[in-house]
Amino acid sequence: MEEEVPHLMVVPYSAQGHMIPALVLASRLAGLDFEVSYVCHDFRLEQVKREAKARACNPHIKFQTLKKNFPSKEQQESSSGHDSMELMGWAFGFHPEDGVELKELISAANPPISCIITDNLLASWAQDVADELNIPRIIFYPSPGMALAFHFYVKNMLHQNKLPVRVQELVRIPGIDSAGLSPLSSDQVIDLILETVPKVMRDFYVTNAVRDHEAAGVMCNTFAAIEEEACIAVSENPQINPNKVPFVDIGPLLPDSYFAEDNACEDYDKVECLAWLDEQPTASVVYISFGSFARANRKQIEELALGLEASEKRFLWVLHNGAEELLPEGFLERATTNKTGMAVRKWAPQLLVLSHRAVGGFMTHCGWNSTMESLSRGVPMITMPFYGEQRGNARIIVEHLGIGVGLAKDGKDGLITRIAFEQAFRAVIDEGELVRSKAAQVKQAARAAFKVSPRKIKDLINKVLESNRSRQTGLQFKFF
Ligand code: UDX
Repeated sequence: MEEEVPHLMVVPYSAQGHMIPALVLASRLAGLDFEVSYVCHDFRLEQVKREAKARACNPHIKFQTLKKNFPSKEQQESSSGHDSMELMGWAFGFHPEDGVELKELISAANPPISCIITDNLLASWAQDVADELNIPRIIFYPSPGMALAFHFYVKNMLHQNKLPVRVQELVRIPGIDSAGLSPLSSDQVIDLILETVPKVMRDFYVTNAVRDHEAAGVMCNTFAAIEEEACIAVSENPQINPNKVPFVDIGPLLPDSYFAEDNACEDYDKVECLAWLDEQPTASVVYISFGSFARANRKQIEELALGLEASEKRFLWVLHNGAEELLPEGFLERATTNKTGMAVRKWAPQLLVLSHRAVGGFMTHCGWNSTMESLSRGVPMITMPFYGEQRGNARIIVEHLGIGVGLAKDGKDGLITRIAFEQAFRAVIDEGELVRSKAAQVKQAARAAFKVSPRKIKDLINKVLESNRSRQTGLQFKFF
């Protein structure tokens, strides 16, 4: 009798920075000949399909949606594809009703679901769904191994009464002390455990972190060549992973075409900013983008813009959700007249931008997807982290890998000054040889990791499915 192909259901957390890499994972799974369903909220489907097209995802992914739990119309509204504060406020909650609906989808699936792969931020209800239906749950972790090591270590910290963490505290993650990165300041780990964060948010994060220890496996969007100690710590250190949840580094989760030397992501629709980049000299432009959600305040945007102008460097700047209104008077007009800069008001075709020969640097909020996208193309970064694990990511980029330039905050008002910005733009574009050569090495390592990623994914899935089969057989045996 022919054996049925396992059917895997991928369920991301409802935010762009989580949905996009989960989509690439789903595509990779479909490429491995698994049956794959990808589940998102109904209002996200259009965006997801757009990204699937842009990233040339495997056409065999089946899209399914959760329809009952919905943010309000105002919360959903987002003109450009970027997520609003209101929408993120809605997403950042327990939402067990999603679990009820997911259970219905799993029960109705044909062929039956063999395993669910869900985001770490959904553990509080997704683990219950998996347990009730007797199917394994694998965690999809979209951020770096360092953050995952911390995420797992949170349970230990809770038991030792070390939570919440005080703002001035240093956090030592066992097993990664010699990486040159630990200890981390409290805001360089995941800032959601800080005493200054509202309790309801802390509880959401900690509950998920604790429940993630019950999973059958964990896949992380990183690769050992850039985070060796974190990967070893997660897979082997009993203080971090006492249940020995099988771990695998599966990054970089990027489209296959991104690794083709001269032919990145053909499927993107051509847009105006790419035509503008075509007219710029090689490695002369700084691309500025803070991901799908983060936005700087007026004073900080002003300093950035004035530093940029003083540096006389060319730029392509994604200005979303009203950020354009915060620019100093006449800034964009001067840049347009002098043909030295361009604003993107909507969702930028980031993969194509980072692949363009004219882009010489990326000023980033250090979201992990942006980081992986930049390093996989060998583009040096200027790091301007905002929240979450981004300050830790900045340390990985600048201190550990040496592929970026940091921005010191001014002690007085905690702002990054225009002078710091000016120096950073010059450092990356004019004097960036060292970071550029290191970035070129990391790019090669990313390419090598990309090639072995499918095999690693397949091995983990097979291991989890096999161990679930043995468990089920054991249960039946006990029953009879
Ligand atoms: C967040 C966190 O910052 C990140 O660290 C975590 O790992 C996942 O969630 P986000 O802030 O949106 O994500 O940043 P990032 O991780 O960089 O993801 C943004 C994604 O959107 C990237 O894949 C980027 O290419 C894409 N994007 C963003 C565009 O394609 N166009 C845009 O205009 C903006």
